[in-house]
Amino acid sequence: MSVQVVSAAAAAKVPEVELKDLSPSEAESQLGLSTAAVGAMAPPAGGGDPEAPAPAAERPPVPGPGSGPAAALSPAAGKVPQASAMKRSDPHHQHQRHRDGGEALVSPDGTVTEAPRTVKKIQFADQKQEFNKRPTKIGRRSLSRSISQSSTDSYSSGFPVFAWKGESEDDFWWCIDRCVNVEGWQPNMILDDGGDLTHWIYKKYPNMFKKIKGIVEESVTGVHRLYQLSKAGKLCVPAMNVNDSVTKQKFDNLYCCRESILDGLKRTTDMMFGGKQVVVCGYGEVGKGCCAALKAMGSIVYVTEIDPICALQACMDGFRLVKLNEVIRQVDIVITCTGNKNVVTREHLDRMKNSCIVCNMGHSNTEIDVASLRTPELTWERVRSQVDHVIWPDGKRIVLLAEGRLLNLSCSTVPTFVLSITATTQALALIELYNAPEGRYKQDVYLLPKKMDEYVASLHLPTFDAHLTELTDEQAKYLGLNKNGPFKPNYYRY
Ligand SMILES: NC(=O)c1ccc[n+]([C@@H]2O[C@H](COP(=O)([O-])OP(=O)(O)OC[C@H]3O[C@@H](n4cnc5c(N)ncnc54)[C@H](O)[C@@H]3O)[C@@H](O)[C@H]2O)c1
Repeated sequence: MSVQVVSAAAAAKVPEVELKDLSPSEAESQLGLSTAAVGAMAPPAGGGDPEAPAPAAERPPVPGPGSGPAAALSPAAGKVPQASAMKRSDPHHQHQRHRDGGEALVSPDGTVTEAPRTVKKIQFADQKQEFNKRPTKIGRRSLSRSISQSSTDSYSSGFPVFAWKGESEDDFWWCIDRCVNVEGWQPNMILDDGGDLTHWIYKKYPNMFKKIKGIVEESVTGVHRLYQLSKAGKLCVPAMNVNDSVTKQKFDNLYCCRESILDGLKRTTDMMFGGKQVVVCGYGEVGKGCCAALKAMGSIVYVTEIDPICALQACMDGFRLVKLNEVIRQVDIVITCTGNKNVVTREHLDRMKNSCIVCNMGHSNTEIDVASLRTPELTWERVRSQVDHVIWPDGKRIVLLAEGRLLNLSCSTVPTFVLSITATTQALALIELYNAPEGRYKQDVYLLPKKMDEYVASLHLPTFDAHLTELTDEQAKYLGLNKNGPFKPNYYRY
């Protein structure tokens, strides 16, 4: 039994970023899952579908107790397979020391087996899954290790990576194709970020779905596409919506963007933030992170929103809620974080002041109407990597970053800790979908159960030497909770 995962998660158009996905070999060493023939590649900034849908209102229910994904991870669900199919580049039989201090045994044919003491196998029994286990130091370090490997590491480890810095749109799709168009190999799981890989397989290789057991999708946009397919009755395998896992949303979207927005702006423009006027479009998780960071640096931050709840949150957090038109002439920086399209139009761009910086932290390159800037009267000047000056006939320039693609993924790096959290969630989802008995999941989109979210969080707590309080029996009874969780209902908003 082997899992052949094809993954689209990190580097294609913006390959400076470390791979976002936990490669199945890593999943194996930490989760007792075996892996073969891994095609690792990745584009978070994806060749975005300009017709990406608006957020779907409805969400299919989370699987209930007893039927939840975790239940499938029981030892009974299948033997834990061996790592016999994993290939590494080193052809010699030897012990390789892992960065976490453990060892891997590499045989002459390139087969890698983990030395026993580093294998941290997590058992999942029907509703008795050991999510309450506190991770050991080794487990924690090996998680960090797994995610901190760059795509270069993945390549030298024998996992094919199709991505490079500065890919064109055509390159991007070529890379996607190379991940699946391989003679004598085909994936049986999809790990996607943006839905482009899924879309490509649907379009080009629909027969592949006969062998594919499920899709794990981590992005807002990709998830929306899956819900659309499901609604149209066109989803032909079960899918896990990892994007809406709390541990993904809060860390990848909120905390990660809170840190990387400043990094991306600094690296590209060397600007100071104090006193600058910034407008942030969208006050969802990404927008909240960007606003918090800029406010902390002394910027004057305006917010635009279409949703009165998020708008009210922005007001309560101390930001001025405006329409983009009202501030477009005065702001120094415009940042889009909506997941929507054409939020910044040519009209807005025409009205911006000289030297205004325009960038996107949301979906792909659809939020700013960059195409409208490719007209004869405007001159483009590449001033450094990922930084273009677009010059109007009267000499006015705007500074366009990453050609409207995701600023942080294009121009800075994403913290490995955040990737670790997301990838752990993805790995659990892959294991669950792969191991699930026939009939547990229909051709629909599912959320991971709360307990898995809590488990992912608990794995990362030791990094902070954090000491979690345990419920007493009396308190558990009083709150009507199991002492080992889940601690919140599914509708709880963190
Ligand atoms: N840069 C990154 O590292 C990163 C990380 C995670 C997600 N993302 C992407 O960022 C985007 C936003 O993610 P999120 O988690 O914040 O989503 P979200 O749905 O929580 O927030 C988006 C907000 O934008 C608002 N909005 C929509 N259209 C608007 C418009 N025309 N004007 C003003 N506001 C508008 C929505 O009401 C919503 O509140 C998504 O495309 C997501 O894929 C980027």
